Amino acid sequence: MRASEAAAALEWLVEMGADEIIGDAPVNRLLTPTPTAPEPAKAAAAPLATPGIVRPTAIVAQYSSGPAAQPAGANDAALMAGQCSTLAEIEQALRHFEACPLKKTATNLCFADGNAQADVMLIGEAPGRDEDIQGKPFVGRSGQLLDRMLKAIGLSRHGESPQDSVYISNVIFWRPPGNRTPTDQETLMCLPFVKRAIEIKKPRLLVCLGATPTQRLIGRSEGILKLRGRWFDFATESGSIPLLATLHPAYLLRQPAQKRLAWRDLISLKQRLKADAH
Ligand code: URA
Repeated sequence: MRASEAAAALEWLVEMGADEIIGDAPVNRLLTPTPTAPEPAKAAAAPLATPGIVRPTAIVAQYSSGPAAQPAGANDAALMAGQCSTLAEIEQALRHFEACPLKKTATNLCFADGNAQADVMLIGEAPGRDEDIQGKPFVGRSGQLLDRMLKAIGLSRHGESPQDSVYISNVIFWRPPGNRTPTDQETLMCLPFVKRAIEIKKPRLLVCLGATPTQRLIGRSEGILKLRGRWFDFATESGSIPLLATLHPAYLLRQPAQKRLAWRDLISLKQRLKADAH
């Protein structure tokens, strides 16, 4: 390849959203993987035929990538998620879930951070570059702003008790290339895992950061400026959880004047936590 061709190829990649180098050697993703013989012993060992609860490891064997992989999609996600009974099982199931196309371009799974016993669970949109590298939600600039906002009302990822801690996740678990908005298909693949994580964690209060998680979790289509500051009910099998919609910290970094609205929402959250404590 001539230097001018290499430069043109690089320019094209940047236009397509590639903004970092994630490996020393190039990977040709257009090559079909060489088929290898399936491992019948593994499939036979999986207790899929056992009535009752099927452990995620069995489901994982059924849906993982490889020559014997099933066509997977949102229904598969719902099936896998429904069979998890701990947050660790959800994370493990996601590590083996191959149906979400975002996984192919992401560096790391980005599942959750914070205190799993926390009263408050925050849900953001999707990991960005820093989150993709570290495999943890909200560790970049918007995460730092989020930490400062939480601190202002006495909350942190790892507070001394569940009352002053938060648990943080996203509605999308892999970084969309170039931070583009996730498609409906990608979101639908992740949503059953998010909903199951909420059901398992049973936070006292949920906070959605920005339009995407709010709209997806409460099934409304209004913009975030209409929805923010309001409490909704998120229905689970074991009862409903109050859900507060607020602005995404990345939006606040772009529109600092809107921080006053976010501050009102934080006060509302603090008041609700106080009222529920009595
Ligand atoms: N924005 C999000 O919505 N989630 C993250 O984890 C990081 C940035």
